[in-house]
Formats: sequence, structure tokens, C-alpha cells
Amino acid sequence: MAEKKVSILVVDDETAFLQVVESLLENEGYSVSTAIDGVAAINLLQQKTFDVVLLDIKLPRVDGIEVLKFIHEHFLNTQVIMLTGVHDIKTAVECMNLGAFNYVTKPYSADELLRTIERAVEQKRLRIENKALRSELSRHVFADNIIGESKSMLELLNIAAKVAPTDSPVLIQGASGTGKELIAHFVHKNSQRSDKQFVALNCASIPENLLESELFGHEKGAFTDAHQTKQGIVEIADGGTLFLDEIGEISLTLQPKLLRFLQTGEFRRVGGNKTLRSDVRVISATNKNLIDEVSLGRFREDLMYRINVITLNVPSLKDRKEDIPLLVDYFLKNRVRPRGLIMIEPKALELLMKYDWPGNVRELENVIERASILCKDNLIRVEDISLPIGLRSAIQKEAPRDVSGIQIGAAVPIREIEKAHIAAVLNSVGWNKNVAAKILEISLKTLYTKIQQYNITKPE
Ligand SMILES: Nc1ncnc2c1ncn2[C@@H]1O[C@H](COP(=O)(O)OP(=O)(O)OP(=O)(O)O)[C@@H](O)[C@H]1O
Ligand SMILES: [Mg+2]
Repeated sequence: MAEKKVSILVVDDETAFLQVVESLLENEGYSVSTAIDGVAAINLLQQKTFDVVLLDIKLPRVDGIEVLKFIHEHFLNTQVIMLTGVHDIKTAVECMNLGAFNYVTKPYSADELLRTIERAVEQKRLRIENKALRSELSRHVFADNIIGESKSMLELLNIAAKVAPTDSPVLIQGASGTGKELIAHFVHKNSQRSDKQFVALNCASIPENLLESELFGHEKGAFTDAHQTKQGIVEIADGGTLFLDEIGEISLTLQPKLLRFLQTGEFRRVGGNKTLRSDVRVISATNKNLIDEVSLGRFREDLMYRINVITLNVPSLKDRKEDIPLLVDYFLKNRVRPRGLIMIEPKALELLMKYDWPGNVRELENVIERASILCKDNLIRVEDISLPIGLRSAIQKEAPRDVSGIQIGAAVPIREIEKAHIAAVLNSVGWNKNVAAKILEISLKTLYTKIQQYNITKPE
């Protein structure tokens, strides 16, 4: 069966514009309808379901924002892309807050328009695909503060939700900053121990010789500084959940004692000879590969099996980039709120999507926090985003489809290619000359000279 064509509604009050876009989109294989004003658009929307609507902001009769609200209320699965003049960018970004997928500035570049449509269609497909996973989840759990609609994240939460009410030990694995501790809290909050305490111990932050007393406590006089008897963390967590973060750091001397506790629930304080009991559910986390640690002789195999009845693997951010816009939105609304509503322009978001985030969600959170402090008029632009590593490679990864119509290898002088390339890079970074010079690896002064020499102008 032939795949159903993607249907697009284009709404604009300029007939000439409608005609050009219609033929462009039809050439790309889309099924296209057009409307000349807001009322005509609403009429069409009531007759037929559209996958994507291209919507001019300024329209006669009912304006674009009203049409957007109408679509958002009635057709949640329809993606809206706003069409806007350069002076209306602020309004367009506000539209994104009302649920528009993105915006394209007029005069538009065909390439940008087509790419935005492709992304909108792809996001819609993912949303529908993941709907089942999400609804399965929402039945039972508390997960308000965990953001993620990607398949891998929803699958993880589904497993975590199933494991949570059992008393099994859970091992959470994932690269740094992926949200391991957040998942540990999630398991606790959805467990039968949720009204008891969640006690966390970071095994890497405590010197080796003190870790045992931190875990199991000590008797008065057990060692020089032991002036008082002290309860250990396993005792404090009795009845609740014990979170052992960075468990791969526990020394080989301490590992058998921990194993014994996990098997029997029994322990002794340092310097004590009384056997005590505590009932805890253990969640551990590590960014190491414990199997490797075992084969290197640094981690006991029996302990690994004991803590690893269930493994939850938290995916890295680069493998679930579709979660980036949601996380950005969440951080802007929840972490930087006191400064008022801060928005982000699509080009800046696109840059964030191209970066690989070695520091994962934590790094993204920091970049957003910094950008929201640096930005002007509460709008984060490309130049406000400082990516510590690989800025250039991040931007260059997705090469533009053409260099203004010039093919590499065609019979043209090299200066034509240089001119077209400089213009394309400038356009791709919103004419931020500092960033463009960095990408091009030339000085700012040289960039100015080339702009003048080639007479490169900013598109209106
Ligand atoms: N899915 C998510 N939704 C919202 N916030 C998240 C998400 N994942 C991580 N964060 C936030 O990112 C930061 C890092 O998360 P967390 O401390 O849980 O990661 P981690 O894997 O334990 O990191 P590390 O390996 O450095 O210990 C926290 O501020 C957390 O709230
Ligand atoms: Mg952590």
C-alpha cells in the first residue's frame, strides 16, 4: 500500500506567496491546501485533518495567533509552523509557547522551510509512537520532575515503575549527568517505602578509611576521632531506601562487609561486637561498567550480582535528542523563573540539538542557566549559548544542502565558492560575526574584509 501523503495547510493573505509555496511543497510530494485568511483556515480545518499547518501571523479577519489557539485546542496532533516577517520574531517565539512547533522568517529559504516541515512531521510521528508508552506509565506513577518523551526514556521509566514496588535491589547505570540520582528517587517514591526516608551516600566522596564507619557507624573510641557512638547510614535508613551512589568506588576491603549486610541485613558498627539489623532497600548507581571492573579484579563478582538484580540503564542525551527541547523548556520555566519568562529562538535550539552533550542533562542545565543570565530581552539567541567543547563541529555537523546553488567541483572560480560559503555560514548563525569567524577559522578583521570584498549582504 502506498504511504499516505503528508497533508499541509498553508495560510497566508498573499496569493502569490501561496502559489509559490504550494508548488514547492507539491513538488516534494506533499498534499497541499491553501487558505487566504483565518476564517477560511478554520473552515478547512473543520473539514479535514492536517499534519502540518504553515500559518502567517498577520492575517485578515481572524489572525494567526487565534487560529493557532484553535488548532491547539482541537487538533493536538497537528503541527503548526508560524510564518513571520523579521520584525515579528518576538511574536513568533511567543507562538511557540502557545504550542507552535517552530517559525520560519519571510523571505523564507526553501531549504529552511522544507527542513522545518520534515522535523515537524518527524516529531509528530515520534509523539504518536510514544503515546502508548506514556499512557502506560501515567496510570501508576509519580514522575512530574522527570522530563522525557523519547522512546528510550519512556521505556526506562516503564521498567523503573514496574520494579519500584518490589523490594529488589536496583543498579542504575549511565554516563555522568544523565539523571541516575533522579531515577533513584523515582524508584523510591513509587515504592512501598515511599513514606520512609531515602538516604543517599556518595561512595566516591568519602575517604576510603572513613567509608565503613559512614556506612555502618562506629562505637565510641573505635578510632582516634570517634568521641561519640555514631549511627551509620544503613541504620538511619532502616525501613527506607539506601542509595549507594558511585558504588564502583567501594574498596575491596569493604566490599565483603557490604555483601554480608545485603545478604543477611546484619552488620556491626566499627569497633563494636554486637550484631545489629537493618531493613533497607538498596539502590546503587555507577557510571562505570561493573562487568569490566569485575574482570579487572576491582569489584567482587558476588557483590555485583547481589546489587544488580535489576539494571536500569539511563540513556545518554545524545541518544535521545528529541528530549532536548522539552528539557530546555522545563529548565527555563522551573529553574530560571524568578527572572521572568525566558524564551529561546529556534536557531539557538537547533544549535543545542546538534551538540553531543558529553555532560548530559547536567551540562544542558548549566548551559541554559548561563544563557538565560547572559541573554538580552529575555530571549536566548545563538550568541548566548556557550558550548565548551566542539562548538564548531557541532554547528558544522549538519552541512547545508547546497552552497547557494554552487556545486563543489563545478567549473567555478574558487572565490565564488568562498563567497557563497561565507554567506551561508553567516546566515546559519544569524549574522553573528564572532561565531561565524570562529567557524571559518579566520579573524574577525578578515571576515569584515571578505564581506566587503565580496559584497556579501544580509538577507532582508
Ligand atoms: N530527565 C530529566 N528531567 C529533568 N531533569 C533532569 C533529568 N535528568 C537529569 N536531570 C537534572 O540534571 C541534573 C543531573 O542529574 P543527576 O544528578 O540525577 O545525574 P547523575 O546521573 O546522578 O549524575 P552524576 O553521574 O554526575 O552523579 C540534576 O539537576 C537533575 O535534576
Ligand atoms: Mg549522581
